[in-house]
Amino acid sequence: MFEIKARAASGRVGRWQIGKYSVTTPTLAVVVTPNSRIVSLRDIKKIGAEIIITNAYIMKKSEHAEQIEKKGVHKFYGWDGPIYTDSGTFQMYSQGKFEITPQETLEFQKSIGSDVITPLDLFTLPTDSKEVAREKLKETILRIRSAREIIQKQQLCGPVQGGAYPELRKKAALEVSKANPDIFAIGGIVPMMEQYRFSKLVEAILSARRNLDTSKPLHAFGAGHPMIFALLAAIGIDFFDSAAYAIFARQGRYLTVNGTKAISELHELPCSCPVCSENTARELAGDTSLLAKHNLYATFEEIKTIRQAIFDGSLWELLEQRIRSHPAMLEAYKTLGKYRKFLETSEPVSSKHAFFYLGKESLQRPAVFRAKNRLAAMKFTKKDETFGWLGLKVPLGLKMIYPFGQSVIPGQKKSGVAKPIDAARQVISYQYRMPLLKAKKAIGREGVAEISRNTGRLQRLKSKDMLLGTFRDSDGYFVPTFAGAKELAKQLHGAYTVHVNKDVESFIREGKTLFSKFVAGADDKIRPGDEVFVVGSAGELLATGTALLNSREMTSFKYGIAVDTRHIN
Ligand code: GUN
Ligand code: ZN
Repeated sequence: MFEIKARAASGRVGRWQIGKYSVTTPTLAVVVTPNSRIVSLRDIKKIGAEIIITNAYIMKKSEHAEQIEKKGVHKFYGWDGPIYTDSGTFQMYSQGKFEITPQETLEFQKSIGSDVITPLDLFTLPTDSKEVAREKLKETILRIRSAREIIQKQQLCGPVQGGAYPELRKKAALEVSKANPDIFAIGGIVPMMEQYRFSKLVEAILSARRNLDTSKPLHAFGAGHPMIFALLAAIGIDFFDSAAYAIFARQGRYLTVNGTKAISELHELPCSCPVCSENTARELAGDTSLLAKHNLYATFEEIKTIRQAIFDGSLWELLEQRIRSHPAMLEAYKTLGKYRKFLETSEPVSSKHAFFYLGKESLQRPAVFRAKNRLAAMKFTKKDETFGWLGLKVPLGLKMIYPFGQSVIPGQKKSGVAKPIDAARQVISYQYRMPLLKAKKAIGREGVAEISRNTGRLQRLKSKDMLLGTFRDSDGYFVPTFAGAKELAKQLHGAYTVHVNKDVESFIREGKTLFSKFVAGADDKIRPGDEVFVVGSAGELLATGTALLNSREMTSFKYGIAVDTRHIN
């Protein structure tokens, strides 16, 4: 069970329920092994972990195997929280000595009381030929399907392979979705991360992601370096796992969000975590455990920074800071441009945070792509006065709406004011992607727009003393009344409409919140934050409200709110 709590870019803060436990995402599962406690479980919890991940292959071949089976994995580690287990795929690929069968690993994970179980997928290398990648995928899918038959009480991870082939990643995503696991995990990406091939990484993830059921959390297997978290969170990764804190520590490497440093070369510790505050670089260099602990602090600092940026609506701004750390990050960001059409579908319509222009990369954000498309749909003419915004011509009446009114762009000024009624028409036309002429028709000849005497902003739209709607202070968008919605719907022919199941019609009419499990269908133009019309089976308007999910999410999520309904009949 997974529910979205906040969103920015294509990222989300979610709540993932795992049996009696729940974790807040994006998060990172700390990798622990039975033989080494480089950082104690108590410290791991204190630093911010809510979930740990451990490996069936390593446990089964360790001297503690019997004890783990006897005590159960929670007691063995002394961890009162969810435990995710990996199958051994990666170890069979990288070590390859000890063999484990698909059946054995599932049985073992089940018998030790794991909360999230992983089948033995076939690790597909970015260098594998297409033929090999296809064969491995075929076998992986069979193994996931049969795992689902055996794993019913616990949650199941569905690994998505496909190597360096976008079409195989797509196939993997579609097939794994059908097998109905509880979490998806993008596999075979460790070599891409190790070699800083972040552009390939982004392609592998996005070609899978756009074909995956988005109502479930998405894990990037083996992604544990904080420098890439913002990039991956922005494209929809909810879950990371890390052995990096320990592996890097053993190599004398100090993690920072901008990259890795050799501890032996540090004169200063550019971090204020408890470890770095109380020790010198020399002390860290001589103590792997201390270094690992700092590495974990640095890891969770970035996880928390990302979650806050999602709450604030500033994930793109954070990412555009992060891409300065390495040319490969900058290149990966440019690759996102190829996927802008898809990324636009989960980009919120509005944001609490102003659009900060941070360099020419900002032009590539989905908000700019969307603005361009919505402006084109308005079909305004030379008679409509405009101002310039990041190279786009924007009608004057849109001056107060997001992102035009809530953007900070060095050297850009907006002058001139539109007549209130013209501005109202323009906002409605832009917001509902309809030609200005249709917006004019919806408002009618007798429409009157009122502005605030104090701020000069649009406030209300009326027609013959009937209130059609108000304009939101925060972002300038139009919020129709029930009467206003009826007029708009006549011009929109089903656009921005959400259909509900018959059995909840009366609840919705009374003004109750619309949960996604009751959504029967939704217009594919709908984006998170759009004002929508909620209709019943006979096509009658039941309510209006703000969509919290896009159309695709509304029809796939089983938990959480789809539309925050507002007006009642
Ligand atoms: N850990 C790192 N990569 C992978 C992978 O592709 N599959 C599994 N099961 N675990 C991994
Ligand atoms: Zn530190």
